[in-house]
Amino acid sequence: MAAIAVSLATSLTSAVVPSSLTSFVFNKLNSAPCLRITFSVSRFSSYRGGKLMAHSLVRATLGLTQPANIDVPKIALSAKEIDVAEWKGDILAVGVTEKDMTKDDSKRFENSLLKNLDAKLGGHLSEASSEEDFTGKPGQSLVLRVPGHGAKRIGLIGLGKSATNAYAFCNFGDAIAAAAKNAQASNVGIVLASTESTSNESKLNIASAIASGTVLGTYEDNRYKSDSKKPVLKSVDILGFGTELVNSPANVLTPAVLAEEATKIASTYSDVFSATILNAEQCKELKMGSYLGVAAASDNPPHFIHLCYKPPSGPIKAKLALVGKGLTFDSGGYNIKTGPGCSIELMKFDMGGSAAVLGAAKAIGQVKPPGVEVHFIVAACENMISGTGMRPGDIVTASNGKTIEVNNTDAEGRLTLADALIYACNQGAEKIIDLATLTGACVVALGPSIAGVFTPSDELANEVFSAAEASGEKLWRMPLEESYWESMKSGVADMVNTGGRQGGAITAALFLKQFVDEKVQWMHIDIAGPVWNEKKRTATGFGIQTLVEWVRQHSS
Ligand code: BES
Ligand code: MN
Ligand code: ZN
Repeated sequence: MAAIAVSLATSLTSAVVPSSLTSFVFNKLNSAPCLRITFSVSRFSSYRGGKLMAHSLVRATLGLTQPANIDVPKIALSAKEIDVAEWKGDILAVGVTEKDMTKDDSKRFENSLLKNLDAKLGGHLSEASSEEDFTGKPGQSLVLRVPGHGAKRIGLIGLGKSATNAYAFCNFGDAIAAAAKNAQASNVGIVLASTESTSNESKLNIASAIASGTVLGTYEDNRYKSDSKKPVLKSVDILGFGTELVNSPANVLTPAVLAEEATKIASTYSDVFSATILNAEQCKELKMGSYLGVAAASDNPPHFIHLCYKPPSGPIKAKLALVGKGLTFDSGGYNIKTGPGCSIELMKFDMGGSAAVLGAAKAIGQVKPPGVEVHFIVAACENMISGTGMRPGDIVTASNGKTIEVNNTDAEGRLTLADALIYACNQGAEKIIDLATLTGACVVALGPSIAGVFTPSDELANEVFSAAEASGEKLWRMPLEESYWESMKSGVADMVNTGGRQGGAITAALFLKQFVDEKVQWMHIDIAGPVWNEKKRTATGFGIQTLVEWVRQHSS
């Protein structure tokens, strides 16, 4: 499940996996006799120190039958923005509605994608569909071998009159899996003939429904077969559904563009969201000196993003806030990132926390859970170098009046989060979770795929760990060792912003704690490791599912 969930999240714009879909996947998996799929998740819970989930299959003795071990199908899912004619692989599966199949007087397609494909194939596609009476009805499929092209086969798969819900797209995925199996295909490309009717927000839903339908469709219960073939499907490319926020480079994804993405989410789900975007001047009025200090060197101005979710109706029982670190680029500032392994060229991912928070916002906008108010907050900016920038040794003042001696400009995330956390408390949030690519030290401690969790609240820790159990995302609780605060004391200000190399992830968390009201339950999650998949050189979408699941726990 973890593998499926993570790859789903990665494949989507803003990395959204609607939680309704997630639970659908769970339900479908649970109804299949397939215990192993949840294994990777639960094995981790035992490692985490939680209770060990029982996975020992009851051994049958009568008849000497032993179920064979099941390999979890590993299928790589990715979203690609390439022309379908350029795609190379075993089957290009095109989802078509009955309307898409309309032809003109000369029996050629009216739909532009089909028309282009047909032209490349010398009219073969329109001819074959007429001859085979393929009209796009649900369940109909037509697979043609097209030698000499990038795709070895083209499959038309019927979606019916119109496909509007996740169920229909899951079935579409299922049909693709069947076509892939017939053709012994190891890679498939998936595209919809028309996406005009599918607005941006539902594209995310659709892509994840198709992906899970395809992955689940390849599953076969072969535990009791002595000679079973493994599914050959290895990769699924979803074409034309957008790519991911975190993968976007910093020259494209500026703080303004991130704010625009947030505004888009709010206007798409305007029934439940209100958006506030503050410019530098407005942040100055709110006395956000810590955040503005970081933003000061950049020509791309800061944008403070606040989306407020309120359910369509009914009383509100819990007020929550999700705060994300939103550094669209982190050069380090005057303490510039130098030397091997500093990964300056990867620092576009320093807004991974904010991408997860906005991804969660999108999913919440779709699911519309009752009974909760949720604030999504990002102090977006860029950490650059210039004559107007913050110097090492400067003292900045956060919006709660606390002063900070900036002994290292590369510890900028905590400076932005300080003002964002104060703002979250001022919204009346009772519980706050922040997600941040905060420290290299956390990666040293926990490696590349586990996030560090810091919270004084055992109750909040329990909630989030149970959410993570459902999502399969790996979290490990770290200590908030108060005695380490000693290294954060300043001779001239209330605190410094870095306390040396030792326990760097902990002192960073202790710093954040200074900006949270004591009566508020707060958790910091350091995602510096799992935000990025080094092997695949891509963002992971880490955190979204756990956040969405946690919000759902609070829904009535
Ligand atoms: N964005 C980095 C943290 C980071 C480093 C994430 C490597 C992923 C990979 C953060 O702003 C940073 O630079 N932190 C410093 C803190 C130090 C100066 C105390 C770090 O970890 O080196
Ligand atoms: Mn930094
Ligand atoms: Zn950073």
